Amino acid sequence: MNSSAIEATATLDRVLVMELVRVTEAAAMAAARLVGRGDETAADDAAVKAMRAAFDLMPVDGTVVIGEGERDRAPMLYIGEKLGAAPGTGPAIDIAVDPLEGTTITAKAGTNALAVLAIAGKGCLLNAPDIYMEKIAVGPGLPDGVVSLAKSAEENIAAVADAKGVAPAELMVCVLDRPRHADLISKLRAIGCGIQLLGDGDIAGVMATADPDCTIDLYMGSGGAPEGVLAAAALRCVGGQFEGRLMFRNDEERRRAHECGITDLDRIYRLEDLARGDCIFAATGVTDGSLLDGVRHSRRKDGTALLTTHSVVMRASTGTVRWIRAEHRP
Ligand code: FBP
Repeated sequence: MNSSAIEATATLDRVLVMELVRVTEAAAMAAARLVGRGDETAADDAAVKAMRAAFDLMPVDGTVVIGEGERDRAPMLYIGEKLGAAPGTGPAIDIAVDPLEGTTITAKAGTNALAVLAIAGKGCLLNAPDIYMEKIAVGPGLPDGVVSLAKSAEENIAAVADAKGVAPAELMVCVLDRPRHADLISKLRAIGCGIQLLGDGDIAGVMATADPDCTIDLYMGSGGAPEGVLAAAALRCVGGQFEGRLMFRNDEERRRAHECGITDLDRIYRLEDLARGDCIFAATGVTDGSLLDGVRHSRRKDGTALLTTHSVVMRASTGTVRWIRAEHRP
């Protein structure tokens, strides 16, 4: 069998859904050993190694498009690295990974650290450089185009409030707690919105807008561009709207964007520009969070050690969302 490129119109083999969960579970269990140990690098390294090894068992011909950085800066899961047990024969897919979303969270035993990945057909995920991206997201069920980075914060809040039939001050907005967001936060305070300030982890922040059990109405502000692509893949599966625009602090970042094939530096990317066609998104909790429980250590009655993981995996073409609790013998 020859390697088969997946077109944007084709669907991914559903067998891959469970295969992907194995990969995020492996990364989460490896990182979980280092929760609260104060060492971001060690936790990230453990997750990277475990995720890389788990990919070796996946029957795909994969290429990393969002990973740990350029080849010279990352020994594993670098951009362009080939992954999978079926090079040249399995389905040709693009892979976006964040083996440990929330390195600082993990080091400090905070909430919402995740092992995350998404796959799509070849050329279907934006090859984004590891720079900042301005983001805005809302959950499903709102008129198309209700939010846009082309509009001011006040206009976006007014549009969402109008669409939801509530006063602007009733909206809850999730924003990363960073000095660079001082202006945005003061605008939201002036409107009277609630603001949930996130210490870290904006993939979970974006996904919270689509969670019916969560009070967050919008996600606003800047975070990592790779996390933007992963969050967009997740929203493609559960519905919602997202826009992202790359932010450049210097010529070096512009050069890295050019190397990724990006020519229009001011472009506003919508959901389908970031993750096209069918895609599968998987995440496993490392620490407890709004979306997923973290890895639990326990013992069976016979004394055998047990690790329990909690994952979510979803596919854009069907919209199926699976919540998976798994027990593993360490
Ligand atoms: P790490 O896992 O790399 O620590 O990223 C955590 C995170 O909070 C992301 O969710 C977010 O996109 C990014 O960092 C924001 O970057 P910064 O901490 O520089 O504001």
